[in-house]
Amino acid sequence: MASTTRFLLVLTMVLCIFKCVSCIEFQVGERAGWIVPPANNSKIYNEWASQKRFRVGDTICFKYKKDSVMEVNKTNYDECNSDRPNYFSNTGNTIYTLDRSGFFYFISGATGHCEKGQRMIIWVIEQEGNSAAAGSGGTSDASINSAMVSYGVVFIMVAFQFVYQQYV
Ligand SMILES: *[C@@H]1O[C@H](CO)[C@@H](O)[C@H](O)[C@H]1NC(C)=O
Ligand SMILES: *[C@@H]1O[C@H](CO)[C@@H](O)[C@H](O)[C@H]1NC(C)=O
Repeated sequence: MASTTRFLLVLTMVLCIFKCVSCIEFQVGERAGWIVPPANNSKIYNEWASQKRFRVGDTICFKYKKDSVMEVNKTNYDECNSDRPNYFSNTGNTIYTLDRSGFFYFISGATGHCEKGQRMIIWVIEQEGNSAAAGSGGTSDASINSAMVSYGVVFIMVAFQFVYQQYV
């Protein structure tokens, strides 16, 4: 009985690590999330994006309510055209992997939101070792994230060893 409880506890912690790590990397718009920008400051997303360095394989996370995220091509970005997205999500918590280098164009799929500035261009560079990230000033979100992932992996290994010892 006791060991079952302990097993469930460990399992819960392991699942939490996965869940917690999944959204740490780049939170679009920081605490505000993915919203219609204030009328007097409609460029918040491109300002946010221009202060970051994105590499192939990085993930960005959109948090929102009653809204959606679309990845579109440049024409549709410029025109706020949500008819033919390459990617669409409206789960409220979208994790998008930047799986190639080059430009990504994101818009809100909610009527009128893109026109009010809820859109963002992201420029992704090739992965070329981790050394370059440190030089760009400010703390790198990506390096914080990889540290978190490493802790997560170590924790999971310890947890499984613990469980293994209990049952074998
Ligand atoms: C923009 O809006 C914010 C929040 O409503 C306000 O605090 C700020 O003073 C405004 N800035 C300008 C330049 O109007
Ligand atoms: C984007 O897609 C539309 C069709 O949805 C197409 O007409 C347009 O030429 C495309 N633009 C680019 C830059 O590929």
